[in-house]
Amino acid sequence: MAEAITAPHPLAPEWLRPLTDSAALERRLLPADAHRDPEGRLVLGGVDVVSLAAQHGTPLYVISEADFRARARAFRRAFAEAFAPEAEVDVFYAGKAFLSTHVARWAAEEGLCVDTASGGELALALAGGVEPSRIGLHGNNKSDAEIGRALEAGIGRIIADSLDELERIEQLAAAAGVAAPVMLRLTPGVHASTHEYIATAHEDQKFGLSLTPASIEDAGRTTGGNPFAGSPAWTAVERALAAEHIELRGLHCHIGSQIFEPEGFEVAAAKLIGLLGQVREVHGTELPELDLGGGHGIAYTEADAPRQPQEIAQALAGAVRTASAKAGIAIPRISIEPGRAVVGPAGVTLYRVGVQKDVQVDGPAGETLSRRYVAVDGGMSDNARGVLYDADYSAVLAGRQVTGEHVLSRIVGKHCESGDIVVRDVYLPTTTARDDLIAVPATGAYCHSLSSNYNCLTRPAVVAVKDGASQVLIRRETEEQMLGRDTGYLPGG
Ligand code: LLP
Repeated sequence: MAEAITAPHPLAPEWLRPLTDSAALERRLLPADAHRDPEGRLVLGGVDVVSLAAQHGTPLYVISEADFRARARAFRRAFAEAFAPEAEVDVFYAGKAFLSTHVARWAAEEGLCVDTASGGELALALAGGVEPSRIGLHGNNKSDAEIGRALEAGIGRIIADSLDELERIEQLAAAAGVAAPVMLRLTPGVHASTHEYIATAHEDQKFGLSLTPASIEDAGRTTGGNPFAGSPAWTAVERALAAEHIELRGLHCHIGSQIFEPEGFEVAAAKLIGLLGQVREVHGTELPELDLGGGHGIAYTEADAPRQPQEIAQALAGAVRTASAKAGIAIPRISIEPGRAVVGPAGVTLYRVGVQKDVQVDGPAGETLSRRYVAVDGGMSDNARGVLYDADYSAVLAGRQVTGEHVLSRIVGKHCESGDIVVRDVYLPTTTARDDLIAVPATGAYCHSLSSNYNCLTRPAVVAVKDGASQVLIRRETEEQMLGRDTGYLPGG
């Protein structure tokens, strides 16, 4: 398709290969139903991007409904098969990645439960028609109002994050005359980063209940050989078991994000199962559930090689079987909470090109090199991940045939910050011009969720594409809606 660039640009990162087969790259990063039409226009869910931009404007978040559903199904099937016949698996779609009433419904229709992280997300899941018993509520600082709302709706699980919260759940459940279904969020001391995991004694972060005894004295006093005695996690288990209005369903952990290797999940699972075994030994009770959280990685650029759900599921099922046998307990009912891996690759952001310029940059050997800056009509307000996490993305020219020479480019936004970078390094055709459409793949997760009105930009619409039609899921924000929050603003004034 595109002409090859023979040598890598000295300013390009090592993983960014000179363009050899842009079609193959697009197949890896774009939704499964994406292709180019004979005019070279990118087609998403049967709708070409030129029509999408004309109808809905840019910047525009586009989500392939079929791709979302296929990924949701793939997780459900892979985990159900890997854990059968001993244990069932619930896949909770982590709504924080991207939630709307429609998306909540898609997830439910594909047999997924929905995980929410606030009262607002809970309201969306309920409004999307998700069965309350199939909703979970997370959060390290839930308000009484949020807990009360969850109890009133009768949701399937509240994931308690602290001893303080456990106490408030008990009080609120008692006042409501109900038994609250509770999972305890524990920090198994496994920190998983993209390609490796490192085990630390304490998780130095705000979430969850530690498995490590709270004080050095406690650690020395391992009552009856219980290695968890004195830990916040053990205290929480004992309090929850004793609480009259709490039905303790099991243990939960979430070890991190954008994880490619299964080892971190395996270590965490084994630790939590060790605790389940200890609970059985001390209290004669087998807690029925184990939630291993989300964090499954996706491909943002050609450098990323995520594993298929089957691979992760098989590895985890093996680890859970071994650890359960060792702990002398039946394999618990398993849940996982993928967000990014379900919606991330299903989403693409469309931008329109505006101003461009070439700058001269000193190269590694003191030579003068040039880099092209391509500014688009959005930026850090619709994709904050570059600014927040140094996240890398890729991009393709989307509205026409991709041909000719390519040049190392940096796609930047229109905000008043030099860090407002959408795609740090990408080869784009030298013919890229004002009003060309650019598609940035893998923006389905945590882009709309993290969007803002920085510089008073209105937030883009989110449209779903499927079978040749587009449907607005979330309307583009109007200037009036955005500025209308200002009590002194008079529309048209
Ligand atoms: N479960 C829990 C308890 C979580 O905290 C999270 C994400 C998930 C599940 C879903 O993780 P996922 O499968 O989507 O990686 N804004 C960041 C990601 C923050 C993730 C927070 N927790 C980003 O854009 O990368």
